[in-house]
Amino acid sequence: MKKFLDLISEEMKQTFEAAGYDRELGKVTLSNRPDLCEYQCNGAMAGAKLYKKAPIMIANEVAERLSGSTVFSEVTAVAPGFLNCKVKESFITEYLSGMRTEDKFGMEMPENPKKVIIDYGGPNVAKPLHVGHLRSAIIGESIKRIVRYAGHDIIGDIHLGDWGLQMGLIITELKERQPDLVYFDENYEGEYPEEAPFTIADLGEIYPTASAKSKEDEAYKERALDATFKLQSGVRGHRALWKHIMDISVPDLKKNYANLNVDFELWKGESDVHDVIPGMAEKMKADGFAYMSEGALVVDVKEETDTKELPPCMILKSDGAALYTTTDLATIMERMKDYDPDLMIYLTDKRQALHFEQVFRCARKTKLVKPETEMIHIGFGTMNGKDGKPFKTREGGVMRLEVLIKEINDEMYRKITDNRDVSEEEARETASIVALSAIKYGDLSNQASKDYIFDIDKFTSFEGDTGPYILYTIVRIKSILNKYKEQGGSIAEDATFGLAGSESEKALMLELTKFNAVMETACAETAPHKVCAYIYDLANAFNKFYHETKILSEEDDAKKKGYIALLVLARDVLETCIDLLGFSAPERM
Ligand code: ARG
Repeated sequence: MKKFLDLISEEMKQTFEAAGYDRELGKVTLSNRPDLCEYQCNGAMAGAKLYKKAPIMIANEVAERLSGSTVFSEVTAVAPGFLNCKVKESFITEYLSGMRTEDKFGMEMPENPKKVIIDYGGPNVAKPLHVGHLRSAIIGESIKRIVRYAGHDIIGDIHLGDWGLQMGLIITELKERQPDLVYFDENYEGEYPEEAPFTIADLGEIYPTASAKSKEDEAYKERALDATFKLQSGVRGHRALWKHIMDISVPDLKKNYANLNVDFELWKGESDVHDVIPGMAEKMKADGFAYMSEGALVVDVKEETDTKELPPCMILKSDGAALYTTTDLATIMERMKDYDPDLMIYLTDKRQALHFEQVFRCARKTKLVKPETEMIHIGFGTMNGKDGKPFKTREGGVMRLEVLIKEINDEMYRKITDNRDVSEEEARETASIVALSAIKYGDLSNQASKDYIFDIDKFTSFEGDTGPYILYTIVRIKSILNKYKEQGGSIAEDATFGLAGSESEKALMLELTKFNAVMETACAETAPHKVCAYIYDLANAFNKFYHETKILSEEDDAKKKGYIALLVLARDVLETCIDLLGFSAPERM
């Protein structure tokens, strides 16, 4: 189905053309004076110069020709030459009926779907997840769902940080505590135990302890670096311990992400490309791109047009160790081999912008990717506390994700049980659904690149531009539809769109017609905040209609059936949108 605005523009363009003007002048846009009209066309203004005529004359001519239009109920030419338009009720009804019957509300699918890999989440194994990783997971998941909905072939890769110093630190601390473990016996040749010598709770304590020690004790840090080196160079006992750490941590990570309604098609990590790094480095050298500089292997990535200094991209350190850039480059090489994507999207804090600029340039220069392969880094801003500083616990420490989520769940639970009679179980379940909407909507409703203030009171409010407000609206619609059924109505049989009978009903209908244009833009611009802005408008339009209309007590049967059809479509569009944002609505709240 064509987009609503394109259809009405088409009517306007044909009219301009029939009147002897360039058809492109007939572009229609949303009105910037909603108090005066629904849509507007400024083509007569632009045409004035072209045809050396007063704009109002052109506007008058066009308006006159549109008097019998099946699309517009009213087109008025106003000085100095604007065309103010209102759309015919029957045209809207027809469009909404199409949206209701067609797949994805009639959104058009791309002729050439893109193959996309999105790299998001990016947690570091065995380190606690903190709020910094929250944004990557929330925004990445939503972009993935939006791009997929728009008809592209997209898969998500968590790209675990699983090969770094944190592993060496854990191994070092273990050795400190249990030096007699068989993993540290260099002469041991047998099988290692199946069972790990630590639990997930131990890990949660070992890493911070080791990390703190390494900051105070230089020798300890040296040992941790050495352990990391041993792990990477394949010392058996170290590899066996690493595997235990992974086997224990990854299921825990999976559980954490599942609670956030985030899931990944690929659970790959930095360790997966370890073996292909030497070959990649050799090739970069042989092709003349990489050279030795102060002992390190580097590739120049600066370009003539640069306005600021871009340091060379380091491939191997002087001790031969790989870096963050190296694993990212090798991962690109593997992704090209395994999936040959048209586009790779990365989500991290915007402070990593330079890193990705270097990686992308190096990948292009050394031909790891095809000339037409696109790579984009979406750098997001910081999540701040009410004091405008990066979000911290009350004690001033780094806020762990679990703690944050628990705080919001508890706040939501308090609100839900306040003055209400609900069972403990239902209240807990509803609280966790609504809390997730509060966190995700609070984040996604901001443009990703901007810093934002994480304000629990605001985000959990049932009023205003919040997740709970959107859910509240959906629940309201569902409850009306349930009552309709209880009164003997059949939604499937009865819902039939009628003509809008009031301003608020028409406004709600027009809001619904925007769906596929919004989705298309949100996908093209990888911008979930556009979906949030849309459902906020839609929810407002619905609530206005609801307050001004007697829905279930309407006596005119046809009118009532029209309301039911409208409610069903509004519910479905809202639920589709929140699913694309990564949360869902409860049945009651
Ligand atoms: N593990 C990294 C971090 O915590 C994020 C990884 C992002 N993805 C990537 N391909 N570099 O900062």
